[in-house]
Amino acid sequence: MAAPDQRVAVYPGSFDPVTVGHLDIVERGAALFDRIIIAVAPDSSNPDKRPLFTTEERMGLLRGACAHLPNVSIEPLQGLLVDFTAARGARVIIKGLRAVSDFEYELAMALMNRRLRPEVDTLYLMASAEHSFISSSLVREVARLGGSLAGLVPPLVAQAMASRREGEPVLRGSGTV
Ligand code: COA
Repeated sequence: MAAPDQRVAVYPGSFDPVTVGHLDIVERGAALFDRIIIAVAPDSSNPDKRPLFTTEERMGLLRGACAHLPNVSIEPLQGLLVDFTAARGARVIIKGLRAVSDFEYELAMALMNRRLRPEVDTLYLMASAEHSFISSSLVREVARLGGSLAGLVPPLVAQAMASRREGEPVLRGSGTV
């Protein structure tokens, strides 16, 4: 639970894997709030998506990618996002918007979340222009077909994706990548 005077925001997503686009949103959020909690959706959250990395692996990759941000922590998302947010003393959900195509889905989610818990609001940050075409599923496709991931994901994620392709373990040592 946050101290009463702390401004805390939750940044949710599946992060399969975390990209430079996500990282840009986290860094900008971390400059606006005292604390950012990244909430990582469980493997089972979307039956249409077959995850490349397990929740633990995605959290490990996020931990490594955000190591330079002392006010960012990573937790698994359980239950409703608004309940998770309120339980941590946060009143803001941060999300990134990349293009008009994101808008309709995001609007429906923001309105549903507000109906569930009016005290929790959603704050949208516009993705930086150079990241607006990046998505985790496109990154997975490029990796699967052997393309370069330079500039699309943090180097440790590119390394983890190469390891996954070779059938090697993704997480080593103490759980960081
Ligand atoms: N840069 C790069 N990619 C971005 C991005 C950015 N700034 N913002 C979004 N994306 C991409 C993601 O990588 C993802 O790509 P993919 O579909 O290719 O994998 C896609 O956009 C969707 O991202 P996101 O908005 O994070 O959705 P998600 O499916 O990863 O996660 C939750 C959705 C977890 C936020 C949502 O399901 C949720 O809130 N679940 C909790 C349960 C709940 O409360 N449900 C009621 C909600 S109304």
